Amino acid sequence: MLPVVFAVLAAAPTPEAVFARLECNRCHEIDHVRPAPAAKQCAGCHLEISGAAGNDARLEKGRATYGAAFDRFVHHTGTLYVDVPPLVGLSRFRASWLKSYLRNPYDLRPHLTESMPKLPLTDGELDALVRGLKLTADAPLPKPSRERLEKGQALFEAKTCTTCHLLGNQRFPTQPAELFEFRSPAVSLHARTPDLRHARDRLNRDVVVKLLLDPKSVNPRALMPKLGLDRREAELLADFVLATPLAEPIDDMLERDISTSGPVRYEDVEARVFKKTCWHCHSNPDLADGDGGPGNTGGFGFKGLGLSFATYEDVMNGSLGPDGEYRSIFRPGSTGVPVLLEVLKRRVHENARDFVKPGLDGRRQTMAAKEDGPLGMPLGLPAVPAEDIALVEAWIAAGKPRPATPSGLLVSPMGRSAPP
Ligand code: HEC
Ligand code: HEC
Ligand code: HEC
Ligand code: HEC
Repeated sequence: MLPVVFAVLAAAPTPEAVFARLECNRCHEIDHVRPAPAAKQCAGCHLEISGAAGNDARLEKGRATYGAAFDRFVHHTGTLYVDVPPLVGLSRFRASWLKSYLRNPYDLRPHLTESMPKLPLTDGELDALVRGLKLTADAPLPKPSRERLEKGQALFEAKTCTTCHLLGNQRFPTQPAELFEFRSPAVSLHARTPDLRHARDRLNRDVVVKLLLDPKSVNPRALMPKLGLDRREAELLADFVLATPLAEPIDDMLERDISTSGPVRYEDVEARVFKKTCWHCHSNPDLADGDGGPGNTGGFGFKGLGLSFATYEDVMNGSLGPDGEYRSIFRPGSTGVPVLLEVLKRRVHENARDFVKPGLDGRRQTMAAKEDGPLGMPLGLPAVPAEDIALVEAWIAAGKPRPATPSGLLVSPMGRSAPP
């Protein structure tokens, strides 16, 4: 027996090895882990470019190189990956939560535009994280009396908690109206603030009490201020946050059927969908330092499917199948509709779970049960608007017309090339 046990232990990866294989450091700052190379960092590069906002010297320099487009770059990069929470003090989380979240991530921070993508972590890697990061086992949740909950709520409203936090579907009289506006780019502090409806899944009561007394004692990079609470108040608030009943979900399906009329041009589909969003992960490696993005040459633990949205020819060339041969992205998917449409619609459903805003609550439970199926696209980003999905659908129905001036370029993804 013994040698077998040793072999298993020796094979178990460290958290650092897991972070490295899945390239978690392309989005997150991680304790004791070096940042990814600059050209690979979604967060680093977006922070760097958006940081030029309001800095005349850097704006001048950027405009000298990129012309007027630089102002657009500064604005667009500021809307994504600039407020990703750092992975520090992770031992505060319950082991059960981390596992279920990484298996099937959902939106924790309603004001943050992007979400944690679903990545191909193995069960062994999840165990390695839980063990290596010394996560807490689940303690039972508190069961305070109704009276105690009411006192907790009064304190919650009085102690400015409601100026930063949402709590599921509940509205509090002390909540400012701007907390219900979801701007892009978001106010940074709001973008980093989790919806407290998830705290009961994430944190044990003793951790919440400690956090309320001094946020930095459990999360060294906390932005939440120390609010000068005493222990009695912290315990009352912890009981309220962890045990108050969550308001009923409002059933508001996000998916709408919209049809387009009139001729559809490839140029519109490209401008509104392919080159607006998809291209950033499915790009031309020749133009991006050899990195065609996680959906083309691979990354975040994905092998890469050789799918590029850089040109019409690339789109028609399709993606690599398990047999190493290219196949069409217009082939019927598991629901019978073309794969391209299926992944776009899938993201709409994932968003119904992900973007849990007040009024769109409670969906995640239903969605979590249906986690099988293709990955929604764009991966971890807001779904393409219904109007634009309808445009893609109409373009396919019209026989996928070519652009007026085809580039004639078939970027050879994965170093291969096939006729469109
Ligand atoms: C493409 C960018 C991206 C990658 C890659 C990524 N994450 Fe995330 N992650 C996010 C974003 C964005 C959030 C915040 C989501 C939210 O709050 O709703 C997040 C949240 C988290 C959280 C919750 C943190 C907290 O304070 O609430 C954990 C834990 C986490 N990620 C772990 C990982 C691990 C482990 C990996 C690698 C296996 C990884 N992430 C890779 C973007 C990414
Ligand atoms: C070398 C710098 C750099 C890196 C690395 C980078 N980006 Fe970007 N990203 C940009 C710039 C510049 C823009 C603005 C482009 C524009 O406005 O045309 C942008 C825009 C985007 C947009 C479109 C935002 C919008 O306006 O809708 C998405 C999506 C995006 N990036 C995703 C990613 C992802 C995912 C990664 C990591 C895999 C990444 N980016 C890595 C520089 C970078
Ligand atoms: C100024 C904004 C702000 C105020 C006021 C505030 N918080 Fe927070 N809170 C945050 C942010 C931001 C986080 C996320 C971690 C971090 O960066 O500090 C957080 C995290 C938390 C968490 C951990 C939640 C999780 O799922 O990880 C709890 C619990 C919490 N706050 C409760 C409260 C309570 C109770 C009050 C009122 C006494 C309060 N907060 C007041 C900004 C605030
Ligand atoms: C944040 C990165 C990212 C963005 C943005 C993104 N993708 Fe992907 N995409 C991926 C990854 C990674 C895969 C490969 C998943 C796998 O290996 O199972 C993929 C796979 C796909 C596939 C599956 C191909 C097949 O034949 O099975 C399609 C279709 C697709 N993406 C379309 C899109 C479209 C359309 C958009 C824009 C609306 C988009 N993607 C935006 C990362 C991204």
